[in-house]
Amino acid sequence: MSMQTASASVDADGFTRVVAKGKRGRPSRAQHHPRVAHALATKDALTTKDGDISTTPQTSVLPGKRRSGKRQQPQLKVDKQVADVKEKQLVLKSDKFRNALQPCLDVIQGFRPEEIVCYGIGSLAAQVSQWQLALVLLINEDLNMGMWAYDPVAIASDCETLDRFGVSIIAENEQAKRKVTKRTLFFMPHCEEFLYNNVLSANWSPESLSRVLIIGNHLGRYKDTQSSEEFATKSPFIRKALSGVTCTDLPSEKLLGLRNNPFAFTDTCVQLISGTLDF
Ligand SMILES: C[S@@+](CC[C@H](N)C(=O)[O-])C[C@H]1O[C@@H](n2cnc3c(N)ncnc32)[C@H](O)[C@@H]1O
Repeated sequence: MSMQTASASVDADGFTRVVAKGKRGRPSRAQHHPRVAHALATKDALTTKDGDISTTPQTSVLPGKRRSGKRQQPQLKVDKQVADVKEKQLVLKSDKFRNALQPCLDVIQGFRPEEIVCYGIGSLAAQVSQWQLALVLLINEDLNMGMWAYDPVAIASDCETLDRFGVSIIAENEQAKRKVTKRTLFFMPHCEEFLYNNVLSANWSPESLSRVLIIGNHLGRYKDTQSSEEFATKSPFIRKALSGVTCTDLPSEKLLGLRNNPFAFTDTCVQLISGTLDF
């Protein structure tokens, strides 16, 4: 079985086409994997038959059984995920994207993080999760901090892929209630609301909060998408933090020049929390 690799080329229309080479897969039980099912349900970007990035749900090359009927070897799956993430790192390093990322990098460098904790990246079989991992690796390129990750949907191949990039796996489900002792960059792309609330509640003191930087959904949006009673009950710490939050938006995926945007960084920003809050 030959390993699938991927390459990027620029089409005549100026878009970058990301193409996976090698044998095509076929529908598999992977569709029932929670992360993939979520991606299908929410029309997240997935790989189409020819490996192009698509926001249209496809079933033809989901990981799992290949045309031969044999299961893809775990090692080959890891190799492919690693290659896919490396390829995306190259795309993210384009001058246009890096320049647009600079305001975020300035905030991160000003914060001087000592470690990165990633929650909720998802399964690395998904393109969106690969883009997100590629981004956090790019952020860490100059800083070279220890990186940790946890997602309950991660399977062995995801953990090994993370390991290949030097990311350690958090052994237990902390429910994002980690009380920090170092300045910590929480990378939480598209996480559920309760996880942000948990990070804040676990660190609800001026000293701890000054050591917290969150890359994730705009916390302010939660206020606008539910009644004030519901928000206060569900996310009391997000509510109390809002007056001290400063956001710097991640660049739009459109800058990557891909035919279909990966929607990996939508609604995502770098958030510092400071000021006089209700401690
Ligand atoms: C909406 S998905 C986002 C996945 C991916 N980052 C994306 O943008 O498509 C939220 C993710 O949070 C993960 N999650 C749920 N509970 C978690 C926990 N206690 N710790 C870390 N991640 C968690 C889920 O498994 C899921 O992968």
